[in-house]
Formats: sequence, structure tokens, C-alpha cells
Amino acid sequence: MYKLSQHVLRLVLMISVSLLLSWSPANASAAPAIPHPNELAQAVQEIEALATMRSGLASSLEGSTEVPTLQTMKEVCRPIGMRAIQLSQENGWQVKQIAKKYRNSDHAPDNLHAQIALAKFEREPELIGFWDRETLDQQTGTRYYRRINVEASCLACHGLKDRRPQFVKDGYPQDLAYNFHVGDLRGMYAIFIPDAIQKAIQNSVNQQQPQ
Ligand code: HEC
Repeated sequence: MYKLSQHVLRLVLMISVSLLLSWSPANASAAPAIPHPNELAQAVQEIEALATMRSGLASSLEGSTEVPTLQTMKEVCRPIGMRAIQLSQENGWQVKQIAKKYRNSDHAPDNLHAQIALAKFEREPELIGFWDRETLDQQTGTRYYRRINVEASCLACHGLKDRRPQFVKDGYPQDLAYNFHVGDLRGMYAIFIPDAIQKAIQNSVNQQQPQ
């Protein structure tokens, strides 16, 4: 946890510094600029909130003496998918969860970049997040990837195949997301920030601030 918050701080700091550097028009062409620093920082924060939300929901099941009801069982990962859709709509981003061993096939790797990103997280266990310049659906933009690790509280539903709750066995006949161990890479979040959106925001900001 300590490492994680350190990473986020460092990332936000890096983005802020680059924002400061690119502030002066003289520096803009000389210094390598991170595209959309503001939005990237916002995306990083939103994804941290999402990750915290999932851990919180999952750990509320853990150690509970009551047998979880169908409803509480369903309230762990599905709300994350719904929040991802909401974040996409609010910001003009595309927010997704992606996993090689997926439960919901909407979360299968969607292109070669995503496959490479998963392989990179697999190879580098210390890597928590990074971003890349990509073209998605014919739009250029920045895609931020953030790893998702398996925690003890996830095993109730992503542990041994035979121990999965009945609603998972029934609802996801093609399920691949089981037999995980604590610390395994579960998947990643992928947030695509299209350049066009950035331009639209920039234009409206410029209009509000007459030079
Ligand atoms: C109560 C059962 C339950 C628990 C506990 C649980 N999950 Fe899930 N998980 C699911 C279900 C069901 C889905 C499929 C949701 C959907 O259809 O979008 C899922 C989907 C996911 C996905 C999306 C990729 C995919 O496979 O479709 C990720 C990532 C994920 N879970 C990670 C975690 C992590 C990390 C934890 C622990 C912090 C966790 N889950 C705990 C039931 C659970």
C-alpha cells in the first residue's frame, strides 16, 4: 500500500512538473511534453479511487461470519464495470478493465497494445502503471494502464475453480478468472484519452480566458 501511494504521488508529481514546463511557450517545443497532463493526472486519480473501491467491497466480504447473500456477492466487481462506463461518459474517455484470464468476455484484450501491456505487467511485477501513445478506433490519444493484483479477499470468487460461488458458475459459463493466488496479476485498467477530446476542452478553456 505504501509503495502504491508513493507511486501515485510520483506520477502525479511528474505530470504536474511536465505541466509547469510546458506552460512557457519557449519550453513547449524544446522539452518533451506529456500529452494531456491534466487529464492524465485526473485519470490516474479516478483509477486509484476505482481500485480502492474494489478492494473495499471485496474485503467487506472477507472474514464475514454470515454467508454472503447473492446480492452482496454480486456487489463486488460488477459495480466497477458500471463505474468504468460512467467515467467514460463523464470524461469522453474509454475506461476498461482488461484481463487475459477474463470472467466477462467484454474484458478480453482488445488489441495488440493491450496484450503487450499485460505481458509487460507480467514481466515486471514492480510496475504499477504506465502510459502509451496509441490509435484506438481511428483516434489518436494517450492510454494509461494500471495493474490489478489479486488480494486475499478476491479469492472468494477468483480462487479455486470448484470453490467459486454458484452465481459465478451459473452466470459465467465461459469463465477463465479462477485459480488465482495472492499477488498474481489479475489484469489491468486501461483508460484511453483521445486527443480530440483534449482539443475540445482546450478550446473551451481558451474561449473562457481572453488573451
Ligand atoms: C463476490 C465475488 C467476487 C469477488 C470477491 C471479486 N470478484 Fe472480481 N469479478 C467477479 C465477477 C462476477 C466478475 C465479472 C463482472 C462482470 O461481468 O463485469 C469479476 C470481474 C473482475 C475483473 C474484470 C475482468 C474479468 O475477468 O471480467 C477484474 C479485474 C476482477 N474481477 C478483479 C478482482 C479483484 C482484484 C478482486 C479482489 C480485490 C475481486 N475481483 C474480487 C466476482 C468477484
